[in-house]
Amino acid sequence: MSQPALPDLSRDVATLTPIEAADLLGQCAEAIAHHNRLYYGEDSPEITDAAYDALMQYNMALEAAFPSLKRVDSPSERVGTEVQSGFGKIKHIVPMLSLANAFEDEDVFDFITRVRKFLSLPAEAPLSLTAEPKIDGLSLSLRYEAGALVSAATRGDGSEGEDVTANIKALASIPKTLTGTPPDVIEVRGEIYMDKSDFLSLNQAQEEAGQKQFANPRNAAAGSLRQKDPAVTGRRPLRFFAYAAGEVIGKAWETHSAFLADLTSYGFVVNPQTSLCEDASALLSAYHAIGEARADLPYDIDGVVYKVDDHRYQARLGQVSRAPRWAIAHKFPAEKAMTFVEDIDIQVGRTGALTPVARLTPVNVGGVIVSNATLHNEDEIQRKDIRIGDKVILQRAGDVIPQIVEVVTSARNEDSPAFTFPTSCPICHSPAVRPEGEAVRRCTGGFACDAQIVEQLKHFVSRNAFDIEGLGAKQIEQFFQLGWLRSPADIFALTTRFDEMAALDRMGEKSAQNLINAINDRREIDLDRVIFGLGIRQIGQATAKLLAQHYESLPSLMQAAQEAADETSQAYQELVTIDQIGASVVADIVQFFTDARNQKAVTDLLSDITPLSLEAPSQDSVISGKTIVFTGTLVRQSRAEAKAQAERLGAKVAGSVSGKTDYVVVGADAGSKAKKAADLGLTILSEDDWLTLITG
Ligand code: IVH
Repeated sequence: MSQPALPDLSRDVATLTPIEAADLLGQCAEAIAHHNRLYYGEDSPEITDAAYDALMQYNMALEAAFPSLKRVDSPSERVGTEVQSGFGKIKHIVPMLSLANAFEDEDVFDFITRVRKFLSLPAEAPLSLTAEPKIDGLSLSLRYEAGALVSAATRGDGSEGEDVTANIKALASIPKTLTGTPPDVIEVRGEIYMDKSDFLSLNQAQEEAGQKQFANPRNAAAGSLRQKDPAVTGRRPLRFFAYAAGEVIGKAWETHSAFLADLTSYGFVVNPQTSLCEDASALLSAYHAIGEARADLPYDIDGVVYKVDDHRYQARLGQVSRAPRWAIAHKFPAEKAMTFVEDIDIQVGRTGALTPVARLTPVNVGGVIVSNATLHNEDEIQRKDIRIGDKVILQRAGDVIPQIVEVVTSARNEDSPAFTFPTSCPICHSPAVRPEGEAVRRCTGGFACDAQIVEQLKHFVSRNAFDIEGLGAKQIEQFFQLGWLRSPADIFALTTRFDEMAALDRMGEKSAQNLINAINDRREIDLDRVIFGLGIRQIGQATAKLLAQHYESLPSLMQAAQEAADETSQAYQELVTIDQIGASVVADIVQFFTDARNQKAVTDLLSDITPLSLEAPSQDSVISGKTIVFTGTLVRQSRAEAKAQAERLGAKVAGSVSGKTDYVVVGADAGSKAKKAADLGLTILSEDDWLTLITG
C-alpha cells in the first residue's frame, strides 16, 4: 500500500498534452525513485526488472517527446540510487555507467548502424564487438595498487558508491593480490553474484534461523555484500565476474578482448561464454546461443551485453547521459509462469477507485517471486473471465506489474462462478458507482470512507506534496488506527502528541521529536505542493503549479472554484481559459471546493500552515536570462545535454561568441571561440566551473 501510484503507461505519448506529460513525468520520477530505493537500497524489489525497464522506457519516451519538461531530478540522469548510510563513500574517478537496452533484433541492427554512422565507418570497414552474458548481480569496482587490493566500492549513483572494502576482503573469491604483470593502478569492474543453488541453500538456512528470505539470487548477493560484519559476508557464497576497467595507470589495451584476456592472467574469472562477433547477425547468434544455455547456467543472467571491441572506437563514441554509446544490453524477453488465483481483493484508492487485485499462489517468474497481480478494473476481469480458483498464466513483460495473460479454462471446475464485481465499497459499504463511459467504479463514501481518508493522507505527506520525513504510509495507517488522524490538519496536531508518540513501539523520544520537527518544518510550504497535496482528481504536480501561479493563494483558488460552479460566471471563464486546463479538470476542481467537508478541511489546514506563493520560475536560476556559448568537447555531459540543461534553467544558448555573451564554457580542444572569448574579456568557465555554477 505504500507504493506510489504507478503511471498509466498505456497512454500514447504522442497524444498527450504538455500538462499531462508533465504530470506523468512527475509520477514516473516518483515511482522510479521508490523502486530504486527498494531495489538498490533495500534489496527487496516490488516489481519485476522488465516492469522497471518499461517504466524507465516510458519516462525516456516522455522526455524525448517533451524535452523542455525534463525534470531536474530526471530518473534518466541517475544511475542506481544514492549511497546508503552505514558505509563510507568512495568517489569513482571514472564514473560507473549503466547500459542502454535493446529488446528486439531491430534494436541491435539500429545500434550497429548508429555506431557505424557516429564513427563514419565505410561499409567495408570491419567492426568487431564482444557478446557477454549480462550477469544479474551487482556491479563492483575493485582498486589494485602495485597488485594489491586497496579498496572496493559499489556503483551507488555512478559517481559515488559505498565503501565495501572490508567485506570484499573477507571473500575468498576476490583476488587480494594479482598474479602476472598488472599495471601500477587498475580498477577492475565486474559483477558480484550468487549461484542459483547457493541462493536456495542460503534461503533454507535463513529460514531455519528465522531470518529474512531473499527474493532472488541478486537480492541475496546484495544483502550478503552489505553486512555490517565482514565475517558474515565472508561466509556467503559470493562470486565475481570481471568485465570492465575503471581508472588504469601504466597500461593500455587496444581492444576489450585483449583486456579480458589480461584480466584472466591477473587472476580474475572472466565469463567463459564471451565471444567476439564481426557483425549484427553474429551478435544475434551469440544471443540465441546464450539464451538457450541460460536455464542450465548456474547463475542468473538477464540478457547479453554487446561492446565495441576497439578501445579507440570506444573513446570516440563516448557516452550519452548515463550510458556508453559503445555498448548495449540485449535483454531476454518476458518470462511466463503458471499459478493459481487464490482470491480477488478490491482495493480502494484515494479517489475512491475500486481496483481488483489477484492474490496468487506465490510463483517464481524469472527470478522474482510474484504473489499479486493487478486486474485493472471490472471490464478487464470480465474480458479475461478471471475467477477465484483459476489456473492462470502470468507474464513478466514490459508491463509495470506482472500480468495475468490467460486463464487455463480447461483446468476450471464446471461449477466455478464468474466473479461478481462489488457494487458497494468493501471498506465503508457506501454504494460504488460507475458513470457511463468510464472504466472505473468508485466508492461514493468520500470523507466517510476510511480507505479514502487513509489513502488521501498518504498522498498528502508524499514526496511531491508535503514530503514529511518519518511520516510514511505505515505511520499514517498506525496513527489513523489510533484515531489521531482524519484530516490533513490533524497531521499538524501530531506536534502536541509527543508523549503518546514517544510511548509507541519502535518510536521512542528521539523519533517522536524528529517527526515533530519534520512536521513543523512544513508549516511554511510552497503553494503548489499544498494544492497537489489536497488530492483533487486530475490535479497532478504540473496542474497544481499552474493553479498556484494563477491564483497565488488557497483562499482565492477556493473562492474562484466556488464561483465557477456557475458556468456562466466570470470565475468559470477564467478557470477554463488558463492554458491547458480543460472543462473536465475544472469540473473536478469545482466539485472538490464546493464540498463542505473539503472546505472545512482546507480552512482548518490554513490555520496550521502558511503557503508560499510561487516566484516566476526563471528567477530561480543563476543563469536565467544569460547567454551562454559552449565550445570544445565536454566530458561530463554531451553538448546536447548541456544545452538542454542550460535552457531548462532559463538561459539562452548561442552558437557564436559576441559582446552579448555572458559565459563561455570551454571544454577540451576548444578552438577559435575560446580565443575570441578571451580577447573580448568574457567570463570563461571550465566544464567543472559550469557544473558548479548551475548546481550551486
Ligand atoms: S558493462 C560501461 N558487462 O549491467 C559499461 N555490465 O545495466 C559498464 N552487467 O551496471 C557495464 N553483466 O551491473 C557490463 N558483462 C557485463 C555485465 C554488466 C552485468 C550489469 C552491470 C551494469 C548493468 C547495466
